[in-house]
Amino acid sequence: MPTSITPSEQEVIVKPRRQPSLNTRSVQITLQLFLAAVIAPLTFSQTPASAPPDDSAVHQRADALLKAMTLEEKIGQLSQLFDFGKSKAIDDAVAKGQLGSLLFVTDPAEINRLQHLAVEKTRLHIPLIFGFDVIHGFRTIFPVPIAMAASWDPSVAVKAQTIAAKEARSVGIDWAFGPMLDIARDPRWGRIVEGAGEDPYLGSAMAAAQVRGFQGDYIGAPDHILACMKHFAGYGAAIGGRDYDEAYIPETLMQNVYLKPFHAAVKAGIGSAMSAYLDLNDVPATGNRWLLHDVLREDWKFTGFVVSDANSVKSLQTHGYAKDVYEAGLDAFKAGVNMEMALNFTAYSKSLATAVERGQITAQQIEDAARPILQMKIRLGLFEHSYVDEARAHEVLATPEHRTAARLAAQRTAVLLRNENNLLPLKKDAYKKIAVIGPLADSQMDTIGSWTFQQDLAQTVTVLGGLRNKLGAQAELSYAQGVQIQRKFPSMFDAIFHLKKQVVWTAQQAKEEMAKAVTLTKDSDLTILVVGEAQNMSGEAASRDSLDLPGQEEKLIESVAATGKPVVLVLFNGRPLNIKWAAEHIPAILDAWYPGTQGGNAVANLLFGDAVPGGKLPITWPRNVGQVPIYYAHNTTQAPQNQGKRYWGEESTPLYPFGYGLSYSKFAFSNLKLSRGEIKPGESIDVSVDVENTGATSADEVAQLYIHQQYGSTSRPVRELKGFERLTLAAHEKKTVHFSLGNDELTYWSTATKGWVEEAAVFDVWAGGDSNASLHANFNITK
Ligand code: BGC
Repeated sequence: MPTSITPSEQEVIVKPRRQPSLNTRSVQITLQLFLAAVIAPLTFSQTPASAPPDDSAVHQRADALLKAMTLEEKIGQLSQLFDFGKSKAIDDAVAKGQLGSLLFVTDPAEINRLQHLAVEKTRLHIPLIFGFDVIHGFRTIFPVPIAMAASWDPSVAVKAQTIAAKEARSVGIDWAFGPMLDIARDPRWGRIVEGAGEDPYLGSAMAAAQVRGFQGDYIGAPDHILACMKHFAGYGAAIGGRDYDEAYIPETLMQNVYLKPFHAAVKAGIGSAMSAYLDLNDVPATGNRWLLHDVLREDWKFTGFVVSDANSVKSLQTHGYAKDVYEAGLDAFKAGVNMEMALNFTAYSKSLATAVERGQITAQQIEDAARPILQMKIRLGLFEHSYVDEARAHEVLATPEHRTAARLAAQRTAVLLRNENNLLPLKKDAYKKIAVIGPLADSQMDTIGSWTFQQDLAQTVTVLGGLRNKLGAQAELSYAQGVQIQRKFPSMFDAIFHLKKQVVWTAQQAKEEMAKAVTLTKDSDLTILVVGEAQNMSGEAASRDSLDLPGQEEKLIESVAATGKPVVLVLFNGRPLNIKWAAEHIPAILDAWYPGTQGGNAVANLLFGDAVPGGKLPITWPRNVGQVPIYYAHNTTQAPQNQGKRYWGEESTPLYPFGYGLSYSKFAFSNLKLSRGEIKPGESIDVSVDVENTGATSADEVAQLYIHQQYGSTSRPVRELKGFERLTLAAHEKKTVHFSLGNDELTYWSTATKGWVEEAAVFDVWAGGDSNASLHANFNITK
């Protein structure tokens, strides 16, 4: 590897290594001469993609570019636009260097065409960075993020996002707008489906795993892409669960809960962040310097760049925070937003140059904002490899290996909620006639869930399809939709998904369909009901005022159950739903979430015992909407003995606790041991517990560790997750699981002292299979 720059390597600074086909060579040579003069003393080693780039080389290279750039060129790097199809306005802006990035272009040929414009036409040949919402897969769709969290297995997320990154990169996408790290404790909020649920510890583990999956070992690793943590921060606490509404989050929750997964992502090396839509404590996140500068850059030493959410810079005006678009641009910029994402035009393009002229900001500040963007483009190798190999995409997208990984992921993410009398697993030869019922049983779109734009629907296996694949001629399958479900107010994404408008049944048809479902059930040995929410009922702009099953699904369940035939309920959902009646009357309930491309095969494997459910809830499952927000890590309160009796009309405990999930086997926890009874702040304590599979089936259990600080400078939650491990145990096998409790686990942000503290106190420790674990020990921290 050469250590000093050669003339040909010097070219790398300003133009792509692989030659574009457009012939602008003479322009480039002139520019190279010009640039060679500007950056002559520069030395750096050219980094092959298979090794992490040298930091100082990246910095030098970005600085050399910045030195050669005009103010307008630097401002251009700070703008990003949506591109939903060819547009002259975008082409012109790219060719003039007025854009640093585009999002939503997914066709490799179009990406190359646009990149040619950027690289060939602009003075300094700076490539665009192409971003996209790669949330739970690209062509191969994995279970939705909340499902991945339900695996309690970070390796599921690493694998899924590694494959998603590879597929996205194969078409020329360099940057994922994920992971979404918003903690959500109110399932009315539709975007709960995009995150890891309610808990900061589990959320942090899933955050780090996703960063690792997207970015690989380092930013710029082959077949990987830049990750973007979003939505920074507090978006999940939208008041009333209403998407986009403001949130008031006290400091203690902000530091100890909402910010935790973001900090974990920064520690894992994430390269970009997205500022949120919401108005946080009266300062909208996109204009919130405390968040974007003090916390992110000062406290956490984040060195990547911040992109706004779509139009959220201009929204500073809508929020009643900025006077006009000009001020909105200025506010976001000063708060620390490096790049503005917008639909038609950016406020930055209207504000920043004038603001420098007026002395409201300095040219140096513009340079500082552009620097991390350029550094990231350098790290990603976009200067050397600006173009994507259009033919390769076909070899990479949705390969059989990727589909297998998606099926395994769906098997690991499902949560078994109920299994009376061991109805599951089903025996393959026990049922000759099976009725498959429900509006989601044979809907490909609803099998993959929201936030997918590039899926291959034809490849998507529904539950009906999966059962057919599994049973072949062994059983006769019949199918009825039973009911129709739809949103009252349509989703803004329906058009993007090209969803066909549902032809709504007449009252007579609805009656007949319901009757058909019941008749088929009566006529079968077993019914598999697939209900829940359609994919557009959760996700962005998909808040609900109810958690009830939509439409007539409840009636469908009760009518089918009334036949007395055995019924298995499979749920598709991105949030917990009100299944109170089913939880008492339907013997077997499997929560499959939105399981993805291979969802149907995974569900069939799980139902028939070719896979064993081992997922656990990443959220507390309420009995009804009146209980929300409800989460396990609440504070110790007055009359804790009556915690379950807070309402006079309904139990105030959840239907299923956080961490809950059944298996086809049974597990016993014993022998909880602490290495010491007392430690000083800063010291660690080892915790071990034996987990035994007491059943006759090899199966998974998630060992969970909870603590409680009994008193301190502030009151602390009754329980906090501080360790977990998903184990596979053979029948009757026993394993000892080890955890460590140290400074990271025992420190919290105290509003009393305005700082991170590890306090002298008595700590409870529990280990078990869910957040109600009863195996208990305790220890002291003494000063
Ligand atoms: C969402 C973001 C997303 C962006 C780009 C916004 O509406 O809030 O999560 O990344 O659009 O699609």
